[in-house]
Amino acid sequence: MTIREAVDARHSVRQYTKRPIDGAILAALEDEIRSCNEQSGLSIRLILNDPNAVKGLWASYGAFENADNYLMLAGPDTDDLYRLAGYFGERLVLFSETLGLSTCWIAGSYKKKNVKKLLNDGEALAAIVSIGYAQKPGKPHRSKSFEDVTEIEGDAPESFRKGVETALKAPTAINQQRFRFTWKDGRATVKALSGPYTLIDLGIVQYHYEIGAGEPIEAER
Ligand SMILES: Cc1cc2nc3c(=O)[nH]c(=O)nc-3n(C[C@H](O)[C@H](O)[C@H](O)COP(=O)(O)O)c2cc1C
Repeated sequence: MTIREAVDARHSVRQYTKRPIDGAILAALEDEIRSCNEQSGLSIRLILNDPNAVKGLWASYGAFENADNYLMLAGPDTDDLYRLAGYFGERLVLFSETLGLSTCWIAGSYKKKNVKKLLNDGEALAAIVSIGYAQKPGKPHRSKSFEDVTEIEGDAPESFRKGVETALKAPTAINQQRFRFTWKDGRATVKALSGPYTLIDLGIVQYHYEIGAGEPIEAER
């Protein structure tokens, strides 16, 4: 499975089997985490066999089950932490999908106090992403349209359309899709609108756009 195919295959999964993440799959995931940390300056870590992040909590979409493995999206406490965590966290989400693993972003419904205990000095926590083998596949989310999320002056190229359509398949907090893609003066930009965790969403959709368009996009904040 390619990363582009992973965009279509990925849906949030909150119930996992007890099958451990191990062997070559674990090694590949750890390698990708290392590479993300080197490029971003973040300190993302894979935490295994820790039921304390979501135990006993009910998500609006049903209880998490066996969500004992998760990515801890931590990094220096700068004002770009949330966007960076979104961008590199989603790179790991889609990479995990290619390895046969399912995921769910969690920024609200987890026990932050329990996870914060694992931080090193100087680190802040943006969110976690649960990860594991799905009990059953997730479902596609309802989506806004291309027109709902774009502002275009002049003729936007096909790459812009492909980028936005790929972004509309991205996970966002409470499926809010509170972002705006603009084509103006021959260039694309994306910005976050108001709402909970929209700066994390911004990094996520920036990454998705780049996969679809095949070129980088500047995020405005
Ligand atoms: C930044 C962010 C935070 C999220 N926080 C939570 C959460 O706290 N609890 C939860 O159950 N789902 C959470 N989600 C998952 C979203 O509800 C889910 O991505 C959205 O409904 C779209 O569905 P999909 O991921 O299956 O495409 C979060 C997603 C994102 C991107």
